[in-house]
Amino acid sequence: MASKYLTGTGSESKQLATWYFTFAAILFGAQLLFGLVAATQYVMPGFLYGILDFSIARIIHINALVVWMVFAMFGSVYWLLPDETGIETVGIKIGKLLFWIFAAAIVVVVLVFLFIQVGKADATTIWFITEGREYIEAPRWADWGIVVVALGFVGNLFLTGMKGKQTGIVTVLMADMIAFAGLYLAGMFFTDNISVDQYWWWWVIHLWVEATWEVFVGAIAAYGLIKMLGAHRQVVEMWLWIEVAMLFGSGILGLGHHYFWIGTPEYWWEIGALFSALEPLPLVAMFVHVLYDWGKTQGSEEEKGNTNSVINNKPAFTWFVLNAFGNFLGAGVWGFFHTLPQINLYTHGTQFTSAHGHLAFFGAYATILIGMFYIAVQGTNGIKVMKHTRASIWATSMITGGMMGMTVALTIAGYVQVIVSRAQMGATWAGYFDGQSGMWFQQAMDWRLIMGLVIFTGFIILAKDLLTTGKNPVHER
Ligand code: HEM
Ligand code: HEM
Ligand SMILES: [Fe+2]
Repeated sequence: MASKYLTGTGSESKQLATWYFTFAAILFGAQLLFGLVAATQYVMPGFLYGILDFSIARIIHINALVVWMVFAMFGSVYWLLPDETGIETVGIKIGKLLFWIFAAAIVVVVLVFLFIQVGKADATTIWFITEGREYIEAPRWADWGIVVVALGFVGNLFLTGMKGKQTGIVTVLMADMIAFAGLYLAGMFFTDNISVDQYWWWWVIHLWVEATWEVFVGAIAAYGLIKMLGAHRQVVEMWLWIEVAMLFGSGILGLGHHYFWIGTPEYWWEIGALFSALEPLPLVAMFVHVLYDWGKTQGSEEEKGNTNSVINNKPAFTWFVLNAFGNFLGAGVWGFFHTLPQINLYTHGTQFTSAHGHLAFFGAYATILIGMFYIAVQGTNGIKVMKHTRASIWATSMITGGMMGMTVALTIAGYVQVIVSRAQMGATWAGYFDGQSGMWFQQAMDWRLIMGLVIFTGFIILAKDLLTTGKNPVHER
C-alpha cells in the first residue's frame, strides 16, 4: 500500500473522489425523499395529485438510485487508483471537468422530469424529455453526455493503470469498466417492437447489475479488506479472480430469467432457470471471502497477543460486512426465490419483485458504497483508526433495520398478490384489483411507508456523522 497517499489530502484523484461521493450522497437523499412521496401515494392516492405524479416520483426515485451509485462507483475508483497504482491518476483535470458536466446534466434531466410530467409524445420527446425505459429514462441528449463522461473516466482509468503498478484489483476494474460503459449503449437505440426493445433493455439492466456491478463490488471489497484489515493481497486477489469467473459464468446467461415472458423463444426458460439458479453461488463465495479474511486477521493478531482489534475503520468495515450479508440475502436468496419460471409465472411483477429489488440494490451496492464514503472521510481527515460513534451506530441500525422491515412488508404484499391475483383469480383484471384491496396488502403498504421514514431518519444521522467526523475527538489520529 502506497502509504504516502493514505491521508488523501495530497492526491488530486482523491479530491475528485470526494466530489463524486458528495454528489452521490445528495442524490441518495433525493432518492429516499422521492421514494417516500411514492410510498405515501400508495397509502393516500390524492397526495400531491396534479403536482407530482406517482409516475414521476417513481422515475426520479429509481433513476436517482442508479445515478448516485454510478457516481459513488466512479468516486471509489478515483479514490483507490493512487493507492493501487502508486501514482497520481492521469488526466485528472479532464476528470474534474467531466464531473461538472455529469452533475449539471443530471440536475437538468431531473428539472425537466419535474416540469414536464405529462404531455404528447413524439420523436423529439426521446431526445429532450425521456426515453421511457425504466431505470434509464434520461433523454437521449443526456445519454450521449453520459457516454462522453464514461469514456473520459474509462480513459483515465486505463492510462493510469498502464502507467502505474498493475495490481489484480486494477486489472479487474479496467476490464469491468469497459463492459460497464459498453453495455450502456444497448439502452440507447429505439425499436418499435416492444419485445425487441425489452430484449436489449435487459442487457443494460441485468448485465449491468448482475455482472459488471457485482464484479466491481468484488474489486472494491478486495481493496477494502487489504486497506482496513491488512489482509494478504495474494489471498484476496485469488478470491477476486474466482469470484469474477463465477459472476460472469452465471450472470451472463442468467439474463434469461428476464426473457421468460417478453416474447423471446421458449428455450430461454431452460437457460434462464439453470444459469440464474447458479447466480447465488458467487455471492456465497463473496460472503465467505469477507468473513474468512476477517477471521484470519483476527486469529493471527490474537496469536501475537494483540487483543485490540486490527480494523482501522470500524464504520466502513461494518458496512462491508453488511454488504457480504446483504448481497447474499437480497440478490442471492430473494433473487433465487422467484428465478425459476414455474414460480416466476406467479410472482412476476408483483411486490415480491419490489422486495427483491430493494434488498438487492441496498444489500449489494448501497452498503459497500456507504463503506467507501467512510473510507474517504477517514482519508480526507487523516484519521489512523476510525471508531464507531453513537451516530454511526444509529445510522447503520436504522438504515439496515428499516430496509429489512421494508423487505418483509413488501414480501407479504407480494404473497397476497400471488395468492389472490394470480393463483385464485387467474391473473384477471378483477384479480389485479382484488389482490391490492385486501387488508394484508394495505397494511403492508403502511409498514413500507413507516420503514421508509426510519430509513430516511437513519440517512440524516449518517449524513451528520460523515460531516462531523473531521471534528470528532474519538478517532485516533
Ligand atoms: C445485486 C444484484 C441484483 C440486483 C441489484 C437485482 C435487482 C433487481 C430488480 C430491481 C428487479 C426488478 C426489475 C424490474 O423493474 O422489472 C429484479 C428482477 C429480478 N431479479 Fe434481480 N437483482 C439482482 C440479482 C438477482 C439474482 C442473483 C437473481 C436470481 C438468483 C435475481 C432474480 C431476479 C428475477 C427472477 C427478477 C424478475 C422478477 C419478475 O419477474 O418480476 N436477481 N432484480
Ligand atoms: C425511504 C425509503 C424508500 C421508500 C419509501 C421507497 C419506496 C419505493 C416505492 C413506492 C417504489 C415504487 C414501487 C412500485 O412501483 O410499485 C419503489 C421502487 C423501487 N425502489 Fe424504493 N424506496 C425506498 C428506498 C429505496 C432504496 C434504499 C433502494 C435501493 C438501494 C430502493 C430501490 C428501489 C427499486 C430498485 C425500485 C423499483 C422496484 C421494482 O420495480 O421492482 N428504494 N421504492
Ligand atoms: Fe436479473
